[in-house]
Amino acid sequence: MKRIYLDHAATTPVHPEVLKAMLPYFTEKFGNASTIYFFGREAKAAIEGAREQFAKAIGADISEIIFMSGGTEADNNTIMGVAYANKKKGNHIITSKIEHHAVLETCHYLEKEGFEVTYLPVDKDGLVNPEDVKKAIKKTTILVSVMFANNEIGVINPIKEIGKICREAGVYFHTDAVQALGSVPINVEEMNIDLLAVSAHKLYGPKGVGAMYIRKGVKCSSITHGGEQEKRRRAGTENVAGIVGFGKAVELAVRDLPKESARLTTLRNRLIKGLKESIPEIVLNGHPEKRLPGNVNVAVKYIEGESMLLNLDMDGICASSGSACTSGSLEPSHVLKAIGVPVELAHGSIRFSLGKSTTEDDIITVLKVFPEIVERLRALSPLYKTKDSCNCTDGCK
Ligand SMILES: Cc1ncc(COP(=O)(O)O)c(C=O)c1O
Repeated sequence: MKRIYLDHAATTPVHPEVLKAMLPYFTEKFGNASTIYFFGREAKAAIEGAREQFAKAIGADISEIIFMSGGTEADNNTIMGVAYANKKKGNHIITSKIEHHAVLETCHYLEKEGFEVTYLPVDKDGLVNPEDVKKAIKKTTILVSVMFANNEIGVINPIKEIGKICREAGVYFHTDAVQALGSVPINVEEMNIDLLAVSAHKLYGPKGVGAMYIRKGVKCSSITHGGEQEKRRRAGTENVAGIVGFGKAVELAVRDLPKESARLTTLRNRLIKGLKESIPEIVLNGHPEKRLPGNVNVAVKYIEGESMLLNLDMDGICASSGSACTSGSLEPSHVLKAIGVPVELAHGSIRFSLGKSTTEDDIITVLKVFPEIVERLRALSPLYKTKDSCNCTDGCK
């Protein structure tokens, strides 16, 4: 069976050119970058090459890039690092309700450590209002952390505006750019970004590698101890092959961005339009335009996301559910909750995330298969059968 992979927001396959660049660093170029002989110098040079590739891609200086084990570690270190290093200045952090758990859980942890955190709401499209950031800043605020693009509904926040407000207020601005890097242009100078977290496996690089950008002069301590690597900002032997792969992946993604972004936007819009035309009572989650080129997230009334996923899988299509049911919890996703999607609808949400492998034929197949699945499931749904007699007021109709 031909499989159609539409879960690029979860992870992406390693690009063949990335793999080719990485392979020698597992075998003949295996040195530990901390050693001073030939093999070590070779590994060190490869890391520095990747640092240059990434720094160039986001308009940073090489001295501002620290390699990490992925987006989660980078988010943890940027947020906790700033919190601990600036404790004397203040204890207040501002973030948003739609952040990835790597940010939210870090903030929850810091609350237990005595920090105060404001979780900003978003509008019905999923966007943070820069004015809300401005209003929330107070004397004790040391950090604002607002994600560049959301992983579930793909919305792209007004990063430049938020960064400007933070700069004017003298507060550090961090952004989780894990979903954005390679999909939308990023320039830390133009966008007033002080700290940023990214991950390689979302842009056709390897899993388990990421990076932080820390603007020169920003006070941010390390959360790892026991090694001098990465200018003492991230202890531990470097994942040389992974870092080389990350550098190459970033270079390719930035090179291909304008063309690929236009191609995916066309396919995305076609999918959204086709779904709306062929499925009654379907709602697009998130802003219709201010969203990642490859993100489609819809709520299908009266049925469950999990059932849709399993049925799609049987037809060879891989997507992702908009609810957190997979984790054993019946709680709907915090992102859908934050944009005001009623619980029933949140459970019927599904995300298709398009990427390099996605073709027009794939979209045509989804548009043929998915409406049939929805019709089949709705025919079995007690909610659907009784929809016209339901009197509830929670927006299920
Ligand atoms: C927005 C966002 N932040 C952070 C992460 C975590 O990145 P990693 O998987 O590299 O730890 C993800 C991964 O899904 C993400 O989408």
